[in-house]
Amino acid sequence: MIKLSAINVGLGVGDILCSLNDIEDGCAKEFSYRSDRDIYDIFIQRHGGDVFAFVNNCPHAGMPLNMEAGKFMEKTGKYLMCHTHGALFQLSDGLCVAGPCNGASLQSVDVLIEKGNIIVV
Ligand code: FES
Repeated sequence: MIKLSAINVGLGVGDILCSLNDIEDGCAKEFSYRSDRDIYDIFIQRHGGDVFAFVNNCPHAGMPLNMEAGKFMEKTGKYLMCHTHGALFQLSDGLCVAGPCNGASLQSVDVLIEKGNIIVV
């Protein structure tokens, strides 16, 4: 699990990424950060009052999961889906449960909801 406060992208513990209400339920918001050496493209998926954050990089072939901004879920709304080859990932932990990278996982990002805001851990 990545902690944004630990990867030298200019964020500290408690920094606000956005408000929960900035993300429509069932959709995601994308963020991109640069450290000296790496680029971190992440997305925060909202599911009711919860959020789940991951690096936007499929473990199969390193592609971004989504083709459309903010749209990461397959049509039933149960799984995250990589649009390149159709891998399905559990929302709770990013584990791939179907597709070419079955058993691999998305890299999760540690965030918290505090007072209606999504904050850096
Ligand atoms: S790149 Fe995601 S399933 Fe192939």
